[in-house]
Amino acid sequence: MNQDYDLHLEEAKGKIEESSDLEALKKVEVELLGKQSLTAQAKGSLGELEPEERRELGLVLNETRTKLEEMLEARKNKLDSEIRGEQLENERLDLTEFDQGHRLGHRHVVTQTWERLEDLFIGMGYTVSEGPEIEDEWHNFGALNFPLGHPARDMYDTLYVEYGDPMSTLLRTHTSPVQIRVMEEEDPPIYSIMPGRVFRSDTADSTHMPVFHQIEALVVDKGITFGDLAGTIETFTSAYFGKDFESRLRPSYFPFTEPSAEFDIRHSGGKWLELGGCGMVHPEVLKAGGLDPEEWQGFAFGFGLDRLALMRHEIDDLRELFRNDYRFLAQF
Ligand code: DAH
Repeated sequence: MNQDYDLHLEEAKGKIEESSDLEALKKVEVELLGKQSLTAQAKGSLGELEPEERRELGLVLNETRTKLEEMLEARKNKLDSEIRGEQLENERLDLTEFDQGHRLGHRHVVTQTWERLEDLFIGMGYTVSEGPEIEDEWHNFGALNFPLGHPARDMYDTLYVEYGDPMSTLLRTHTSPVQIRVMEEEDPPIYSIMPGRVFRSDTADSTHMPVFHQIEALVVDKGITFGDLAGTIETFTSAYFGKDFESRLRPSYFPFTEPSAEFDIRHSGGKWLELGGCGMVHPEVLKAGGLDPEEWQGFAFGFGLDRLALMRHEIDDLRELFRNDYRFLAQF
């Protein structure tokens, strides 16, 4: 009789080992321990046996069932851990791209441009100033000679902040408000650049981003002329881009400069690319900064830092600068 059960256990072992997933194992478990199983059936008929036989068979049956339970449990644990292993494998992040030893990082290409320009202007005797990214309507527009309701305000897709009176607080749309802050804080002569982050509700595309960087320059001194402005732009573009680049000024309009111009650059006789705006500081702007326009004159210019980085490195999509793909950034 024992042998029957040994054989049963032997067969059961094969079935259990063959169960390749939990569902199959469950079926085998029902077959081996359920009501219809060999041992359950045998237990049911124990009552028909003599006491001695009943005791003996009872022991064998209990032992057999315990062994079956143990085998099933072991297989279940094995399958469970296999599933977990598979899950871990599937969810594993492949970080090997970054795991190439301990390399030293470097500055982002926009930061490099920013710092290069700072160095360049510091070399020309300028100071560096910064202003707040959350501005009031006065510094961003009013003081720069955009009266309320002036159509030029619509040129800037302004992001307003819910703070104070409606439309009184905004994310600065350009770095020009820092001109006013510098005039408020410093006495002329002023030779200053103002780099920073600016915001517009633009949709991202290859030439636009809702957040980008500009650098502003403001010079206020006595007897400053448009010639000084043109000379300064020429000097910095050729210092930044190299001798093969030339710049030109085209008449334009900005409320805060009069006359105003846009400046373009091109590489050895190639296509002209627009870089930024400039002009002689408007008398109203000098007044807003607390200066007497009879006594002081100035020029200002401003342009996109990111654009400058694109041009210098011949990158054709502005979005690449903000995607932060390491493989892209590592090139610069
Ligand atoms: N703030 C202008 C803009 O974002 C650029 C600009 C134009 C700045 C003329 C200036 C300037 O300082 O004189 O479009």
